[in-house]
Amino acid sequence: MSDILKEGKFVWNEKYNIVKEIDDQHKQLFAIINKLIDEINSTPKQESVNKIITEILDYKNNHFATEEKYFHQFNYAGTEEHEAAHRYFSEQIIKINDKYLGDSVSLAFELIDFLENWLIMHLMTIDQKYKQCFLDHGLR
Ligand SMILES: [Fe+2]
Ligand SMILES: [Fe+2]
Repeated sequence: MSDILKEGKFVWNEKYNIVKEIDDQHKQLFAIINKLIDEINSTPKQESVNKIITEILDYKNNHFATEEKYFHQFNYAGTEEHEAAHRYFSEQIIKINDKYLGDSVSLAFELIDFLENWLIMHLMTIDQKYKQCFLDHGLR
C-alpha cells in the first residue's frame, strides 16, 4: 500500500472504488485523517483534536449505517463479520479517547495510527468484499 501516502498525506486511488455513495464517504475519512496529520505537523491542540474526534464519531455513525443498511437489504453473506468489525472501530475510538484524555499530542498520534490501520485493513480489504454484492444489486 505504498502509493496510498504522498508527501505524508493519504491520497485516494481509483482502485479503492466500490460504488459512488460509499466512495464519497470513504473519501471523507481520508480527509479526516489528513486533517489529523496537519494537526500533528503543528502542535496538536486539545480543542482541535476533540473536534476531529466528534467528526470521526459522526462519520462512523453515518457511514456504518449506510453500509449496514445495504447489507440487510441485499442479504449480504458477510454481514455479521462486517458489523462486528464496525463495532470494534467504535469501541477503539472511545478507548483511545479515554486513554489519552488531556494529552492531545499522544491522542492525535494514537488516532492516526489506528485510522491508518483501519484504512488498509478495513476500507481496502474488508469493504472490498461486498463490492460484487452491491454491484449485483444494481448500485453503481
Ligand atoms: Fe466502509
Ligand atoms: Fe465497513
